[in-house]
Amino acid sequence: MIDKNKTKILLIDDNPKNLQIAMNILSSEGYKLIYAKDSEKGLYLAQNDDFDLILLDVLMPGIDGYTICTKLKNNPKTQDIPIIFLTVKDEEQDIIKGFECGGVDYVTKPFQVAVLLKRVETHLTLAQQTKKLKQLNQDLNRQVHDQVEKIRLKDQILFQQSKMVSMGEMIANIAHQWRQPLTAISAALVGIKTKVHLKKFDLKTEEGSKAFEDYLTKKFDDIQEYIDTLSTTVDDFRYFFRPKKDKEHFELQHIVDKSIKLLEEGIDMSSIKIIKEIEPITMIGLKNELSQVLINLLKNAYDAFENKSNQNAKEIKIKAANIDKTIHIYIQDNAGGIDTEVLPKIFEPYFTTKHQSNGTGLGLYMVSEIIQKHMKGHIYVENISYTIDNLTYKGVQFHIEIQGGV
Ligand SMILES: Nc1ncnc2c1ncn2[C@@H]1O[C@H](COP(=O)(O)OP(=O)(O)O)[C@@H](O)[C@H]1O
Ligand SMILES: [Mg+2]
Repeated sequence: MIDKNKTKILLIDDNPKNLQIAMNILSSEGYKLIYAKDSEKGLYLAQNDDFDLILLDVLMPGIDGYTICTKLKNNPKTQDIPIIFLTVKDEEQDIIKGFECGGVDYVTKPFQVAVLLKRVETHLTLAQQTKKLKQLNQDLNRQVHDQVEKIRLKDQILFQQSKMVSMGEMIANIAHQWRQPLTAISAALVGIKTKVHLKKFDLKTEEGSKAFEDYLTKKFDDIQEYIDTLSTTVDDFRYFFRPKKDKEHFELQHIVDKSIKLLEEGIDMSSIKIIKEIEPITMIGLKNELSQVLINLLKNAYDAFENKSNQNAKEIKIKAANIDKTIHIYIQDNAGGIDTEVLPKIFEPYFTTKHQSNGTGLGLYMVSEIIQKHMKGHIYVENISYTIDNLTYKGVQFHIEIQGGV
């Protein structure tokens, strides 16, 4: 329903008689009316006040009604105000022109009271409903935008979380890898101390001094070697997690080797044969992120062999080719494959079948985020049969497709 007392109508007509009649009809209905006797004033009022509807004469000295209408329709502030033309001529051409420049209706003069009132009321109602719809649409748009933003934020947090998990795994690898050289350094120091304490070398003789010197040199060399190992591990680790968003040139073969090495530092891969069929490929892209992808896929293949202790031949095959600058990387294993019910879920965050061995279910989520969002590529997974020495095994193949070949 329209609240007529709050509805403001602007009347623009140069004919005082017409003005008077229209004013009378509309005011008696309770509408608030403002009028303009000439078109300049009318345009000024329309642009500087707030109206719910405008009744506009077509033929006036100065600016004509069509021009005023066009001007108002081109201004965001006034474009939604319904404009009804007042015309003496009801010839088709004029009516069409009025609609073309944005008028919603026309009323012919002299006015028929009922018709004028009905048209005014109809267009006020329509305008009110359009406004409501517009508002609703805006609200919906905002809600959609808010939801999308929320999801994006959640994705970001999840990705960060998976990165922390893989960082945690790497730290565990480092700790594991440090244990052996640290023990060796400690043993070497205890050895030296004991020898000195027990006076194992007769330092008074030249022979004894020489033997002691040789002994120390050997031990110091050993210690130096252990320290070098410790240092390399830390460098590898720092390199791996250095947040580097810039694209770099690199050799794919090198990244594959580095990823295997980083993985092998933490776990014993000796029972698994790793086969590489990799073309020499120079790439430009996110090198460290690609390495994280490879480590996750290789680690999953390794994990899949966990309960296959009786299986003789265990293989992971990494293949790579550059086809028209699209890089295809395949990682295959013969560790049994993935159940078909499970297969569609493996990229979901927190999906894991490794409940006993503390799986996080974030590895493949991170992999798919990196491949799809950061590298704008694709990753596919399927169960395959894998043949070694005429024996066929079940296994999994991950196929990565990314741009970046040079
Ligand atoms: N090569 C594979 N062979 C068999 N199952 C796999 C393989 N790779 C992934 N999966 C399955 O996908 C699941 C999700 O992997 P991932 O996201 O890395 O999480 P997580 O390794 O912590 O379980 C694994 O729990 C496993 O069931
Ligand atoms: Mg995993």
